[in-house]
Amino acid sequence: MTDTLAGKQVLLVIAGGIAAYKTLELIRRVRERGGAVRCIMTKAAEQFVTPLSLAALSEQKVHTALFSLTDEAEMGHIQLSRDPDIVVVAPATADLLARMAGGLAGDLATTVLLATDKPILLAPAMNVRMWNATATQANLSKLRARGMQMVGPNEGDMACGEYGPGRMAEPLEILDAIERTLGAGGPLQGRHALVTSGPTIEPIDPVRYLANRSSGRQGHAIAAALSRLGAATVLVSGPTQLPDPSGVRVVGVETAREMLAACEAALPVDVAVCSAAVADWRPATASDEKIKKNGASPAIALTENPDILQTLSQAGNRRPSLVIGFAAETEKVEAHAKAKLARKGCDWLFANDVSAATGTMGGTNNTVTLITEDRVEAWPKMTKDDVATQIAERIADHLGAAK
Ligand code: CTP
Repeated sequence: MTDTLAGKQVLLVIAGGIAAYKTLELIRRVRERGGAVRCIMTKAAEQFVTPLSLAALSEQKVHTALFSLTDEAEMGHIQLSRDPDIVVVAPATADLLARMAGGLAGDLATTVLLATDKPILLAPAMNVRMWNATATQANLSKLRARGMQMVGPNEGDMACGEYGPGRMAEPLEILDAIERTLGAGGPLQGRHALVTSGPTIEPIDPVRYLANRSSGRQGHAIAAALSRLGAATVLVSGPTQLPDPSGVRVVGVETAREMLAACEAALPVDVAVCSAAVADWRPATASDEKIKKNGASPAIALTENPDILQTLSQAGNRRPSLVIGFAAETEKVEAHAKAKLARKGCDWLFANDVSAATGTMGGTNNTVTLITEDRVEAWPKMTKDDVATQIAERIADHLGAAK
């Protein structure tokens, strides 16, 4: 048995339909592949399967009520919506689909489904007439347009005695769809990736710090793209406004030294992508107390931070087989980047012009040039998401060829 879902968390939303019994097997199958399952049941679902069976199979608390004081204290509904790598709705009944399409949030299931930014996979199950109803099909179109994936329904004999489409997909089919959505079985399946992202912030005193304009968009997008291709991905990030990419383990840090420690703890990995805008310097001493105004402006002595890309590139037998850096330049981009590649000892360097006029720093687009020891390749301007996808595909090609 392969552990294609190792480290992945599935949030299973069970609505009230006869097919709910099949979710018991789905939980077993996900867990056989190394995944964890947490269940939310609608009130109607409790008529079909018991919370106790779900808790026993998932070995996790089953969530049912939106306004439960104890549940909210232990894990609030927003947290529930943020934790998983994927949300699976099975069975997705006509009623629940309608409520989702309408954006309702009257119970725990719909609240979490409305709040989550994780991929949602629907496994519809209902009577054939309900499936064919114009209202249901219109609701499904809306949900698809919002990016939700669907598995099934299958055609066959129904519990109500009719025949046609409406039977929920089998647990193994749902499992396959989960794996596909999470990139399991992708070209980077079984590979480990480390990505740094965002700025680092370096304290001057308890309230002030040195920072930079990095948004983390490029690094976060690279981590998401690597994960989509199946890599077990750790994202070590300084403070950003971005949501955690789905399927990625995120380690939040503030300073360069914390970032280095988190990266070293993530080794060994097959590939490391250093896209963080690490502060080159930090205040030599951070004051424990807030520095007060006393007439004279304080002089802040700076000391150099460790170079994470260089450290990973020179990590001896713990060196990732592919180490990739970015070179943020404002002039003589190619010449500076080539010198940087040699100085840092990394394999690939993506040089980008971050001078103010380009809008790259903090913006959504990027124009990069890939520089290796023997190649210079200018990529056209594209979104940071597209740059990320292409980088991940290049990495997959490279590691695949090196197998
Ligand atoms: N980098 C790093 N640790 C540092 C500084 C930079 O890991 N302390 C990484 C960045 O993540 C990036 C690459 O090194 O992948 C180059 O960063 P850049 O800021 O362009 O280069 P610097 O080394 O800071 O050189 P300079 O500022 O002099 O151009």
